[in-house]
Amino acid sequence: MTGFLDYAVSIHYDRRLYRQDIAGSKAHARMLARQEIISQADAQQIVQGLEKVQGEIEAGQFPWDPALEDLHMNIERRLHQLIGPAAGRLHTARSRNDQVALDMRLYTKETIGGTVKGLRGVQRELVALAQRYSSVVMPGYTHVQRAQPVLAGHHFLAYFQMFQRDIGRFQDCHRRTDVMPLGSGALAGVPYPTDRESVARELGFGAISRNSMDAVADRDFLLEFHSAAAIAMMHLSRLAEELVLWSSREFGFIRLADEFTTGSSIMPQKRNPDFAELARGKTGRVYGHLMGLLTVLKGLPLTYNRDMQEDKEGFFDTVDTLQATLLVFQGMLKGLTLDTERVASLAGESYMLATDLADYLVGKGVPFREAHGVLRELCRYCEGQGKGLQDLTLEEYQRFSRHFDQGVYGVTALSSVSARNNPGGTAPQQVAREVEQANLILEAAGDGF
Ligand code: ARG
Repeated sequence: MTGFLDYAVSIHYDRRLYRQDIAGSKAHARMLARQEIISQADAQQIVQGLEKVQGEIEAGQFPWDPALEDLHMNIERRLHQLIGPAAGRLHTARSRNDQVALDMRLYTKETIGGTVKGLRGVQRELVALAQRYSSVVMPGYTHVQRAQPVLAGHHFLAYFQMFQRDIGRFQDCHRRTDVMPLGSGALAGVPYPTDRESVARELGFGAISRNSMDAVADRDFLLEFHSAAAIAMMHLSRLAEELVLWSSREFGFIRLADEFTTGSSIMPQKRNPDFAELARGKTGRVYGHLMGLLTVLKGLPLTYNRDMQEDKEGFFDTVDTLQATLLVFQGMLKGLTLDTERVASLAGESYMLATDLADYLVGKGVPFREAHGVLRELCRYCEGQGKGLQDLTLEEYQRFSRHFDQGVYGVTALSSVSARNNPGGTAPQQVAREVEQANLILEAAGDGF
């Protein structure tokens, strides 16, 4: 033991893999016995010993020793203390290199399950909001400028779609994580008649790795998790940004539950959207961990290099950050109330109907480009007069185009959204169908992923 040991120790974070490590070791020991590489009696002792180790860890009684550097050595040493020489046979036909690759894959698969569940939970709240505010018209934006009226439900369901894609990315990542690396040994395979397929089956893997060198050197599955997590956090951060804007006095669109706002220590009127801001901020560390691992792996020669031990802390932090953020959003969306009167009144503001008035002229046979020009002139005129479009008399309208008639007053926020009745549009009929579709997706997914 040197004075520099601390630098190499990973036990304070890799102990998090103990369940996966023990499950892998038990499956390995059983296979060794089935293949008559070790005796049934030794395997039985090993399995029972590992169960005891797990009990000790879960009871908080395991004697962790940093001098043994990592989880694998700690468990193996304890097994020795508990069962004696049989413990020495567990590591037959195995290396820490394929062992740690196995642990990380098992852990990632489980984590994907939990993450997808969290995403579904957020989706559920979005659909609930879309349903609750299904008939509310609100301003839709481009460039943070009021652009066209949309249904509030349409806005919420936009995020449903984003999280649906995120789920797809995690499921995709799961497919490539679901490959069993044990049996690759240190790098070249193992000189024993092992049965890798049966280990894969026992541990619930869909396939075994096909190249031992790749299997111990590969962390692509972690990169894919990081990428999917970074994109999901980006979506959450965009939603967070909208919650921040919407809860400001300037917008005044929503009220967040007290639980998710904080007062100022000096300004008593404040309701700061701290949780949304924190979620937006925590997106940074999740991006950072993706870049961190890409950088760790770049330039590594085959096969295992100790650099790869650096794959863990960032990954665990990303898992924790993303899952906690998903829980916060579930709560934040559940407690969100929309000021329906305010958003509806802004959506009915006439400038937002300029496109619809141009479309109205198109309905009278005017080419769209020309109609667009007419409306631009009209808007300019209104600005000069300090009026809204709805304040103009028919005579004023007709000064800009003879095609205007009384029907111009029938153009409203509701007529605007109702007209957009193509698939993907914001018409009530389309949004209702998408709510139904979303509910079907959530129902079919149930608790699984
Ligand atoms: N603690 C190591 C890691 O996480 C385990 C593998 C060590 N293998 C080795 N040959 N030193 O990567």
